[in-house]
Amino acid sequence: MIKSRDFEYEARTHKTYHELKKAYQEVKDSYAEMIFRFALTAEYRDGMTGTHLVRIADYSTEIGQELGLPGKDIENLRYASPMHDIGKLIIPDAILKKKIGLTLKERDVMKKHTTLGADIFKGSRSPLLKTAKIISLTHHERYDGTGYLQGLKGKDIPLFGRIVAVADVFDALTSKRPYKEASGFEEAVEVVKSESGKQFDPDVVKAFLKRKEKIKRIWQATKDIELFVAEGNI
Ligand SMILES: [Fe+2]
Ligand SMILES: [Fe+2]
Repeated sequence: MIKSRDFEYEARTHKTYHELKKAYQEVKDSYAEMIFRFALTAEYRDGMTGTHLVRIADYSTEIGQELGLPGKDIENLRYASPMHDIGKLIIPDAILKKKIGLTLKERDVMKKHTTLGADIFKGSRSPLLKTAKIISLTHHERYDGTGYLQGLKGKDIPLFGRIVAVADVFDALTSKRPYKEASGFEEAVEVVKSESGKQFDPDVVKAFLKRKEKIKRIWQATKDIELFVAEGNI
């Protein structure tokens, strides 16, 4: 009798645990999706598509894994990296959509998308949003200290910012813009390599190169999707 009651209790606990786990996963998934959709609003305003954000998340994850970051950091990097340009939401249309021929003053306003983005996450206690703040603030810093907005140098630039810098530039190089054609995969890899120790952290570049084949698969997969959409299939 006691044994069967114990069994019943155990079965109920087990069921409750799985229900709670499922509910937690659903909340986590919706949270991640909301963040991604939030990041998309900035991309759409900038005339971009969501595939850039997917690639940034994937490239950053590959680099972070190769560098041996803990699982929680990888997860935060994955979900926060698409928000690197969220500050562009606050940049006036006249400047954001101008693209070429920006005056020095306009360029300075544009550069502020870093701090404007960081301001959006200011005061958050969420590790994910804290990561988003760091990335937003530092993804245009350069390893040699000539980047913006703070002009940080070397390892003074937070690692998340150093990783997203490589992912973002590599993706910009391999993407078509109204003012330029897309570089080929190998050509863009060579640019990343040549910027090791200048624009980029050599350790991050090393990790990027070690994951080259996986990065190529990510690049290829979304390029295929973009082509599919461009051909009017969707
Ligand atoms: Fe940016
Ligand atoms: Fe970007």
